[in-house]
Amino acid sequence: MATITFDGIEVEVPDNSTILQAARKIGGSVVPPAMCYYEPLKGSGGKCRACLVKVTAGSAKDPRPMPKLVASCITPVQDGMIVENTLNEEVLKTRKGIVEFLLINHPLDCPICDQAGECDLQNFAFEHGTVAQRYEEERRTYDMVDIGPYIKLHMNRCILCYRCVYTADQLTNKRVHGVLNRGDHSEIGTYIANSIDNDFSGNVIDVCPVGALTDKTFRFKNRVWFTKPVDAHRDCPTCSGKVVLWYRGADVLRVTARKNAYNEVEEFICNTCRFDKKATSDWVIDGPRKIDQASVISQNQYAQNTVIPAFTKTVTEGYTEVNDTLPEHKQLAAKN
Ligand code: SF4
Ligand code: FES
Repeated sequence: MATITFDGIEVEVPDNSTILQAARKIGGSVVPPAMCYYEPLKGSGGKCRACLVKVTAGSAKDPRPMPKLVASCITPVQDGMIVENTLNEEVLKTRKGIVEFLLINHPLDCPICDQAGECDLQNFAFEHGTVAQRYEEERRTYDMVDIGPYIKLHMNRCILCYRCVYTADQLTNKRVHGVLNRGDHSEIGTYIANSIDNDFSGNVIDVCPVGALTDKTFRFKNRVWFTKPVDAHRDCPTCSGKVVLWYRGADVLRVTARKNAYNEVEEFICNTCRFDKKATSDWVIDGPRKIDQASVISQNQYAQNTVIPAFTKTVTEGYTEVNDTLPEHKQLAAKN
């Protein structure tokens, strides 16, 4: 086991854990955001830099600070390590830059994007970004590509987090899509116009942090905040059959996997459950779904449970709210 101090809080985690896993063990507003890391997917992380933190002491044996900010999702803990996230101004400033960087090519089309209201990038920009953006050049755009009957690929919105590639690699028996080309020409595509139609392919929709991969059977049917999520299950021979049904009135508009507080899928589901079972009679209803993540889906979520970092404003009440009790958090909040 290794003991590290994260934002002034001591936590003990198994050796070989990452700094992000240690922070998640503490939980709450000290946890760094993650746009590419996805705990259920092996090898994910290290692409987006959203989770950068400052290591002010490398370990008990060698307490020198690490010279640069490190990606907490891929940096292993060392016994005696001291890490700063919300307490470090350099981290906070850099994170604003990361938001700006991710938004350079991402279209600001939230009003017409199906992912709005449950988009990790939207939440990331809201919680950590700035109002202004300096980029004035033309945004990178791609031609629309048809990747099959169920999934819509809107490449302009992709942030190249690779989550969908890992999902296809690790869940399906034949990956037909991946990242093509290099540098700023990189794009998600299917080689020689294949379609993605494996039993578990629909999971790429759930893991995509933005609106690049959306559910064709739900597209433009409704805004997510008008729908009511309900836990349900069925006896499925292919997957666990544990899902969330998204209702508008008496109609099931879409079916997704259940997600945790970090917006990560708890159990991946098959395409039959996701796309073919849209009648209430197909399911056993477990009860209303509690949305753990900050989201417009939970009404007044931002005002009631401030999961937003200590120094940002709540939306509805417009004042600075500090949940944390550490004096350093209060100091920093006062400054901001
Ligand atoms: S399509 Fe979505 S999941 Fe795939 S790399 Fe792009 S942003 Fe990530
Ligand atoms: S979440 Fe760590 S680099 Fe993307």
